[in-house]
Amino acid sequence: MSGLAGTPPTDGLAVLEQRRSTAETFGIPLAVLAELTHRCPLQCPYCSNPIELDRGGTELTTAEWKKVLSELAEIGVLQIHFSGGEPTARKDLVELVQHASDVGLYSNLITSAVLLTREKLSALADAGLCHVQISFQGNEPSVADRVAGLKNAHEKKIEVARWTRELELPLTVNAVMHRQNLHQLSDIIQMAVDLDADRLEVANVQYYGWALKNRAALMPTLEQIEETSRVVEEAAVRLKGTLAIDYVVPDYYALRPKKCMGGWGRQFFNISPAGKILPCHAAESLNGLEFESVRSNHSIAWIWQNSEALNLYRGTGWMKEPCKSCEFREIDLGGCRCQAFALAGDAAATDPACTLSPIHAKIFKQAEREAAAADNRFLYRNFAGGTPETEGEHGA
Ligand code: SF4
Ligand code: FES
Repeated sequence: MSGLAGTPPTDGLAVLEQRRSTAETFGIPLAVLAELTHRCPLQCPYCSNPIELDRGGTELTTAEWKKVLSELAEIGVLQIHFSGGEPTARKDLVELVQHASDVGLYSNLITSAVLLTREKLSALADAGLCHVQISFQGNEPSVADRVAGLKNAHEKKIEVARWTRELELPLTVNAVMHRQNLHQLSDIIQMAVDLDADRLEVANVQYYGWALKNRAALMPTLEQIEETSRVVEEAAVRLKGTLAIDYVVPDYYALRPKKCMGGWGRQFFNISPAGKILPCHAAESLNGLEFESVRSNHSIAWIWQNSEALNLYRGTGWMKEPCKSCEFREIDLGGCRCQAFALAGDAAATDPACTLSPIHAKIFKQAEREAAAADNRFLYRNFAGGTPETEGEHGA
C-alpha cells in the first residue's frame, strides 16, 4: 500500500483511518479506470482523452502498473477497467491482466478491438480477464469506419465480438451516438442482440476536449434526440432479460445537468498513462490544477484523500450562485466541472447544461444552429493536435 517512490509511515490507510469522517464521505472507489496508454490506431473525433495526449515515453512501466494494481487491491478497490487510448497497444497487457487476477481484481477490457487476434484474446481470457467492452462507431462500415478514421475497423470489431462470446467472456457493446449515426440506432440495438452482448451502452457524445472541437459535426438535432429516447424505451421493454440497455442523455437537450462522475472526487478516479490520479477523463483540461502522480512519494489512498485538486470541487462548499442556494445542489452537485470550464471559462461556474446558468440559452442556441447547419467534416484525434477530414481520405 505504498506510493511508487516509497511511503512515509503515516501514509495510506493509516491516514484514512485517522481521518475517518472524510474517509466515510469519500471512501476509496470500488472501481478504477486505468488509462494504460493514449496510443490508438483509431482517430475518433469525440475521443474522451485530452487534446494534449501523453506520449508513449511518459507511460508507466509494467512494474509501475503492477505496483499500482497491487496497491489498489490492498486499499479495497474491487474492479479495474483497462482502457486507453487503446489498451491492447500495450505489449504487456496479458501480464497486467494476470497481475490484476493475482491480486484479486475483477478486470474489464475497454477496447476498440482492432489490434486483437484470437490468440491474444484467448491469452487474456487465460490470464483471468473477466469482461470485454467493445466500442462501435455505427452499424455499417461506411459510417463506422469513417468516424473511426480507419478502414475495415467495423468488420474487425464484429469478428472480435464473436471471439469474445466463443471464449465465454461477457460482452458489452458501447455505441457512441451523435448526429451522423443516430439514424442507425435501431440497427445497432439489433447488432448487439445478434452479437449476444449482455449489455449495450447507448452513450450520446459528451462535449469536452475532442468532441467540443467537433461539436458542429456531431451535435444531434432535437428531433433526433426525441426519436432516440423513443427507440431506446421501446427496445428496453422488448429486450428485457435479453439485453440490458444503458442510455446517457446528451447534456445539451437536458434541463438540468448530470451528476458528472457521481460527483468530483466522490466515487471514481482514473489513472492517466503517465500516472496522474484524476477525477475524470477530461480533468487535465482544467488550467491551473496540479494532479498528483502515483510516481510521487504519496500512496494512492493519500492522494485520494489529500490531493488539493481532488478536494477543490468536492461536495458543495465551492459553489457560487445560482448553485449555492439551489434546491438541486446535493442532487447534481452543480453538474460537470470540465464542461463549466470549457464553456464558461470557470470550473466553479454552474454547468451551462443547466437552464439556470446565465449562459445556457446562448450556448444552446449556438449548438442548435450548428446541428441545423450540418457541417459534417471531422477533426480527427491524433498526437499532432488533430487532422481535418478531407474527402475520401478516411474510412470505407
Ligand atoms: Fe444543479 Fe446548479 Fe443548476 Fe441548481 S443551479 S440545478 S445545483 S447546476
Ligand atoms: Fe470532468 Fe465532468 S468530465 S467533471
